[in-house]
Amino acid sequence: MSVIRSVVMGCGSYLPERRVTNDDLAKMVDTTDEWIVERTGIHERHIAAEGELTSHLALKAARAAIADAKIDAQEIDMIVLATTTADNTFPATAVTVQAELGLHHGAAFDVQAVCSGFVYALSIADTFIRCGQAKTVLVIGAETFSRLLDWTDRTTCVLFGDGAGAVVLRAAEGEGTTADRGILTSHLHSDGRYKEKLYVDGGPSSTGTVGHVRMEGREVFRHAVINISDTINEALEATGLKAADIDWFVPHQANKRILDGTAKRIGLPPEKVVITVGQHGNTSAASVPLALDTAVRDGRIKRGDLVLLEAMGGGFTWGSVLLRW
Ligand code: ACO
Repeated sequence: MSVIRSVVMGCGSYLPERRVTNDDLAKMVDTTDEWIVERTGIHERHIAAEGELTSHLALKAARAAIADAKIDAQEIDMIVLATTTADNTFPATAVTVQAELGLHHGAAFDVQAVCSGFVYALSIADTFIRCGQAKTVLVIGAETFSRLLDWTDRTTCVLFGDGAGAVVLRAAEGEGTTADRGILTSHLHSDGRYKEKLYVDGGPSSTGTVGHVRMEGREVFRHAVINISDTINEALEATGLKAADIDWFVPHQANKRILDGTAKRIGLPPEKVVITVGQHGNTSAASVPLALDTAVRDGRIKRGDLVLLEAMGGGFTWGSVLLRW
């Protein structure tokens, strides 16, 4: 049976130049390199320069993805940008990227699902493609999450970083089997009962300010391993594939302990897990495409590989995307 699949044509990413190590943070708050590495696996993160905006990072990642896809930017008929740190409350950061790319057609909009943003954006783009409303979609995850941090709160400021990643998806004909290239299945979830476990204490309608990240770390950790494992099993059940079929597991990079716990729970060997949290920290919606691009650039992910993406974040929101590269 002939079906439409959303095939990844290319990917790209961008990290701000400034690297901040755990020792740098230990000069600002009461923490140590040892504590951060042991509890999170994070060694360093990149932080955007003053005046460097989410749209700047997004545009650099987008241009890299377009070059990798070997397409003309004018072929893009939709931009879906996942971010929690928009340049402005409105318009969407996606329209800034659209304008900078010289595009005056199609639609561009932002998606807000915090750390799950890129998985949400991919799933949304795939739906538009499969129902015939878009043909070539630029999907971006970009964050200047450092702007939401309380730099006096050691329980949160050591965890996050800035960056961006992007992929170009294009409609292609598939045979409707798991041997097809492209997105094979995606699953999205949210449960607002947990919205106060991880949130920002400000916003345009409540305080008129941007606010800072607040988190109950242990609770987030507990839910993360359970929810992520569930949505991975969902993806495997929907396709009839097994954990052993997965070539690469590219998870949201929140904490190495969460990644290790999840991989163990679903029975994936550590060598199949792409881990970049040590160098990037948690870059929220940018973390999955940053990790994906890292593993493509270093030659691990190759055409035809089965790749499992997942994420979990504030809301709570969580989800998975299973695709053949
Ligand atoms: N440096 C030194 N000590 C610290 C630091 C720090 N940066 N942060 C907290 N501590 C202290 C605490 O104050 C506490 O001290 P106390 O025992 O004297 O009260 C002690 O360390 C233990 O604190 P816990 O919060 O219990 O430490 P835990 O082992 O749970 O680790 C962490 C904290 C790393 C945040 C962990 O809970 C976690 O990773 N949770 C998941 C959160 C996460 O990943 N959030 C990202 C967003 S959501 C997502 O992307 C999935």
